[in-house]
Amino acid sequence: MIYLHIPFCDSKCNYCAFNSYTTLNRFKDDYSKALFAQIKDYFNLKLSKFEKVNSIFIGGGTPSTLNYMNYYNIMEYIKKQANDNVEITIEINPSVKKEWINEMIELGVNRFSMGVQSFNEEKLKFLGRNHTKKKAIDIIEYLNNKEVRFGIDLIYDTKLDSKSLLEKDLEYIKSFEIKHISAYSLIIENKTKFENKHNYKLNDDNMAFWLNDRLLDIGLNPYEVSNYAKDETYHSIHNLGYWSKKNYLGFGAGAIGSTDNKRYYNEKDIEKYIKNQSIENIEILNKEDEILESIFLGLRSIVGVDINLIKNKHKIDILIEEDKIYKKGNKIYNKNFFLADEIALYLDNQ
Ligand SMILES: C[S@@+](CC[C@H](N)C(=O)[O-])C[C@H]1O[C@@H](n2cnc3c(N)ncnc32)[C@H](O)[C@@H]1O
Ligand code: SF4
Repeated sequence: MIYLHIPFCDSKCNYCAFNSYTTLNRFKDDYSKALFAQIKDYFNLKLSKFEKVNSIFIGGGTPSTLNYMNYYNIMEYIKKQANDNVEITIEINPSVKKEWINEMIELGVNRFSMGVQSFNEEKLKFLGRNHTKKKAIDIIEYLNNKEVRFGIDLIYDTKLDSKSLLEKDLEYIKSFEIKHISAYSLIIENKTKFENKHNYKLNDDNMAFWLNDRLLDIGLNPYEVSNYAKDETYHSIHNLGYWSKKNYLGFGAGAIGSTDNKRYYNEKDIEKYIKNQSIENIEILNKEDEILESIFLGLRSIVGVDINLIKNKHKIDILIEEDKIYKKGNKIYNKNFFLADEIALYLDNQ
């Protein structure tokens, strides 16, 4: 698995703390060259043995802010390291140009993930989005006519949300037969315009449960606490890889890579990264942390947890008795992803 980070956006949304900038556009060309250099260095050195890549995820920031030529060398090179049926996802913003979508398909992209957040104009303004409902619909209709998979992101639990507002979003999702949804509950992040605005979040758990049920009603099934798909064919291989703790390479400013018990952190600062793409920081996870992470990730998703990782096996029986989890083979699976953290802590405590 490979992750490429594109740290540019056309405008900064009020809630977003991602490593992305709106004022450094002059560095786009140099950045894409540095990104290519880091990728080539890695594969030339073969620092660790990697199986053929089965998933490439280009995230951000907003990857649709870089042009075809910025991606050309990178994509041609990286595809040589990948399986023929590799999933190549790219994140886009609804202000993307249709021509750019075609160019990316030509370069091998076969999955798009678009940050729509809402179909409500007032909520889009509140979130500080630079697109309109009309533009989002236009791109959804365009992608629906292409031979690619795509999903959209939604944000909910903001102070403007209500069942009737979300019900309208669901009507759009249903009418456009959207096959993959990432529905994120708003997080109030530091160093954003929403910093300290805790009243901007409803903190209404019942709304999350309600939205989950409504997504199920329209045929979108959760495969992780925030991710829903029509069926398995629309699951993101990349997401599933993260949750199963597969090794992944991270390229680009602020990108993170993970092999076995090591985490590699790239330089976050764009200018510094352009000058030197070497790894900033390496973190070694101890066995306990690794196990705890596997338990949390496995319970938050359909990945499940290997029973051998659970010390207190009698607690498994209690949870099965309470109908919270079920056992299949040597794994346990969660029945309600919203209870994942609670169950994980229960299983981990002595
Ligand atoms: C990199 S962005 C997606 C692509 C593109 N930059 C865009 O926003 O259209 C990743 C997603 O993270 C989610 N996100 C970012 N910050 C968030 C926050 N504070 N709370 C909840 N969701 C957030 C948004 O749904 C966003 O679409
Ligand atoms: S949500 Fe997306 S478009 Fe908005 S600032 Fe964050 S990365 Fe950029």
